[in-house]
Amino acid sequence: MCGIVGYIGKRQALPIVIEGLKRLEYRGYDSAGVALWDGKKLQDERAAGRISVLEGNLQRKSWAGNLAIAHTRWATHGKPSEANAHPQSDCTKGIEVVHNGIIENHAELREALIREGHKFVSDTDTEVISHLIERAFLVNAKEKILLEHAVLDGLRHVTGTFGIAVISKHDPRKLVAARRGSPLILGIGKDEFMVSSDVSAIVEHTRKVVYLHDDELAVLTPQGYEILGFNKKTISKPLNTIDWDVVSAQKGGYPHFMKKEIFEGPETLENAFRGRLLEAGKGGLVKLGGIEEIKNKLLTVRRILVVACGTSYYAGLVGKYFFENFSRIPCSVEHASEFRYSNPVLEKNTLVIAISQSGETADTLEALRDAKKRGALAIGIVNVVGSTIARESDAGVYNHAGPEIGVASTKAFLSQLGVLALLAMLLGKEKEAVSEVMLQKFSAELKSLPVKIKKILAMDEKIRKLAEKYLKYDNFLFLGRKYQYPVALEGALKLKEISYKYAEGLAAGEMKHGPIALVDEDMPCIVLAPKDSVYEKMLSNIEEIKARGGKILAVATEGDERIAKLADDVIYIPHTMEEAAPFLSVVPLQLFAYHTSDLLGLDVDKPRNLAKSVTVE
Ligand code: M6R
Repeated sequence: MCGIVGYIGKRQALPIVIEGLKRLEYRGYDSAGVALWDGKKLQDERAAGRISVLEGNLQRKSWAGNLAIAHTRWATHGKPSEANAHPQSDCTKGIEVVHNGIIENHAELREALIREGHKFVSDTDTEVISHLIERAFLVNAKEKILLEHAVLDGLRHVTGTFGIAVISKHDPRKLVAARRGSPLILGIGKDEFMVSSDVSAIVEHTRKVVYLHDDELAVLTPQGYEILGFNKKTISKPLNTIDWDVVSAQKGGYPHFMKKEIFEGPETLENAFRGRLLEAGKGGLVKLGGIEEIKNKLLTVRRILVVACGTSYYAGLVGKYFFENFSRIPCSVEHASEFRYSNPVLEKNTLVIAISQSGETADTLEALRDAKKRGALAIGIVNVVGSTIARESDAGVYNHAGPEIGVASTKAFLSQLGVLALLAMLLGKEKEAVSEVMLQKFSAELKSLPVKIKKILAMDEKIRKLAEKYLKYDNFLFLGRKYQYPVALEGALKLKEISYKYAEGLAAGEMKHGPIALVDEDMPCIVLAPKDSVYEKMLSNIEEIKARGGKILAVATEGDERIAKLADDVIYIPHTMEEAAPFLSVVPLQLFAYHTSDLLGLDVDKPRNLAKSVTVE
């Protein structure tokens, strides 16, 4: 949930780690800190609040040095405060630790360490790690042990998850990093090395990276790096090249990442389909390289279970319609956070699909692991290449959506829908569950979507005006049926997470079972009513709401005059097949939420209490 960056090399370390922190701020942003070895002593600084506050504090003294670690935090243990910000040090301030994850047995460890005379100054679980490393140095004082061995000794006592970076005055010309359950990546430069929880902090300096796996530790010095297993044996690991550049991780002229990412929707879909959605007559219709090797197993699948959280979960709900419609395989979709506690019955031939933009969401990862343990075939639909979910799946399909920085997921949703559609088509074709004519028609429709989305994006100004008109309302209902029901849920999530307005997504058919009681002139309803098989039913919903004095903002198919007469306002989307409509109808809802938040003067990209990847339960 938090962000780690560390540097060792010939250049001044501070500007590099602070710049890296800014790129990681989306991972968590309630406090930040830095520790640096200046050649003679360790210096550190922490601050509650944004990185800009830390930068202000750093002006107070000189920070020359070529080795530093830094952290941006999203609190899990202990409130956001200066004392609880990382790095966390030991009693003598001789060890500095930045940590992502949760130390589950921190309370027992703290008690034991206090009994031994250690003094704690924070409420964090992380502080026990610094004291455990200190204890390892104390116990082995005569032998003068290396920092990496002290870290390994300390970590032996810990249960839970961690990605840590450590520097120490006891063995000062090195940076040690270790991971269990929390991502860490090494950046390999020329005479300089970095560690980070995310490639975005590294990519400006090098594209050569090494992914650290669980129970691995890295020792970085100005001369090179070594990776050890927790058994102290050297491990040789491949060097990977990342293809995201720093420009694509920046705003590109848009006021916010979220807006940039909404406008990247058409390109995102093109990338999701490129080389996968084939021209007719070119050896099949869909080709998904990532699952090629398990294709035979896929043919035996009798049930699909999707596990995901938040927006990815809603994409999964649309996927259920795709799978059942095109491949006739029964599909259920579960919140990963519930699945892992449910003692699920996974019959033989169940395919589990974990969907995650970040590939690091703790609940989704645990659900995937649980499903694998129970013998299911598990695939991932993941955006971040090399992320933990991508690595731990039996096979998978990458979204190719590029970095998504805004906390509110937008372009990733579109690409998730794209990949799910391809997967359903592939299964349907292989199982001969759907006609070739239907597949060709849907394929052509998918290819036309980027152009259609561009038409919706051209209505940005109109949607901003509508957001302005509806700004005075505090509560919203989002209604949809069939393919549009998950879109209603997603529209409501977008609005609530960045505008802090109350918004509830509902299956429109459920209205008369209770929620219609909420309708009055202060409860606008955003109704998804494209021309599809449930269009007439949606018109009835609109009539019922109007009869009770409710306001309607409808998303409808262009040329629909009946809706124009009934609704207070209409946003038109281009004509499309019912199955493809979610790709279009979600876009105005993303823009509506974006403008509402922006008009309220809120921090669109970093909404309160949220972080981009939720790597804790
Ligand atoms: O990285 P993931 O797709 O696994 O993330 C899942 C959710 O945390 C994420 O979609 C969240 O709901 C977004 N903030 C929604 O905009």
